[in-house]
Amino acid sequence: MQLTDPAERLTREELRHLQLTRLRATLRHAYENVPHYRAAFDKAGVGPQDCSSLADLARFPFTTKDDLRENYPFGMFAVPQDRVRRLHASSGTTGVPTVVGYTGRDLDTWAEVVARSIRAAGGRPGMRVQVAYGYGLFTGGLGAHYGAERLGCTVIPASGGATARQVRMIRDFEPEIIMVTPSYMLTLLDEFDRQGVDPRTTSLRVGIFGAEPWTERMRQEIEERFDLDAVDIYGLSEVIGPGVSAECVETKDGLHIWEDHFWPEIVSPGTGRPVPEGGHGELVLTSLTKEAMPVIRYRTRDLTRLLPGTARPAFRRMEKVTGRCDDMIILRGVNLFPAQIEEIVLRTTGVAPHFQLRLTRRGRLDELTVRAEARPGVSAERRAAATSDIARAVREGIGVSVAVEITDPETLGRSEGKSQRVVDERPELNE
Ligand code: DLL
Repeated sequence: MQLTDPAERLTREELRHLQLTRLRATLRHAYENVPHYRAAFDKAGVGPQDCSSLADLARFPFTTKDDLRENYPFGMFAVPQDRVRRLHASSGTTGVPTVVGYTGRDLDTWAEVVARSIRAAGGRPGMRVQVAYGYGLFTGGLGAHYGAERLGCTVIPASGGATARQVRMIRDFEPEIIMVTPSYMLTLLDEFDRQGVDPRTTSLRVGIFGAEPWTERMRQEIEERFDLDAVDIYGLSEVIGPGVSAECVETKDGLHIWEDHFWPEIVSPGTGRPVPEGGHGELVLTSLTKEAMPVIRYRTRDLTRLLPGTARPAFRRMEKVTGRCDDMIILRGVNLFPAQIEEIVLRTTGVAPHFQLRLTRRGRLDELTVRAEARPGVSAERRAAATSDIARAVREGIGVSVAVEITDPETLGRSEGKSQRVVDERPELNE
């Protein structure tokens, strides 16, 4: 049985050489087949022939979600329709959704990078994998599914939702691995409690969590409550889906980027200028092997930084993504990310790991209410103390005052996929 694939054994020099060859081919492919890229490159005064080193990529224009929207649905495709084997689409909660396409070879690449991610998480052929990411246009379910099959696992295609049945499947089919959003894992935790089953007694050994930000505190909480290893998987539909990068179970120190397929850069979200090596900023990704929809310097909006490889030395790591540029709440001039509140809520005694952030406006002033749920059986005194504990931790740690409301157990909405942390009830500014 092969435990690593050949790409994981490349030296850095071999990898750089492969990346440059693939990058040049991708730039050519995009320029020749996608009118948007031809126009954007021409406007910037660069062409595929101008890329003679990996650093030259910085001369090429960025691609944004708006570019994808303007070319909805198929304008960014670089191959004829009859070579496209599958479509997926991003949620499109606001405005026009974005559609992505895959050739047969793209699906193959995707299965390979997800298989690699599951292996990094400790998955091995023959293990059972419950896929509780949603199936459908969302890339989570099918992406995980084909990756697990590629590795040689037995897939339980549970999809999201039907929580009581999920727990039943875990008990009856005894998967070693679950792939699910961390917030839905918490929903499953409640269901174990409801069924009177100790989640530590299940067959689950590894959880592969992604599709939304989650903190180290959340890792601790899930690992303790389920007695498993919790690792992170990252990706986005525009670039391929899950499997752009993944954490190795032996180190749990950030996500190795599968750099033979995706080239990462970090830029300042405001100016778009590269940040110095190791600095924090917005992740920008370029696909190196995609056929149906190559992406050149795609602005992910996700905030992270690059670090050297550890468990897979050929590949660089990215720090856990705990926020997106567009998730940032600016409250009376102070920047705040939902993940910071998650850290605080999860370390507060007597409070369950469910929370919601409600943004309102009084007069001209924005206000934030942190709503968190009391754990069952917690005393009224502890609830009151938790209210002031959270308010104080936010004031001292983040530097802004918020209102805190501790609700009764089981009163906040539960996630079945990506959680919606922020409820924005502010009237439009110019209403
Ligand atoms: O969420 C793909 C995916 C599915 C990744 C299953 C991992 C597991 P989209 O729906 O296009 O694709 O959403 C992509 O989700 O830009 C991030 O903001 C966020 N995201 C994805 N993975 C992580 C993660 C999928 N591990 C957007 N940590 C991305 C933090 C994540 N945020």
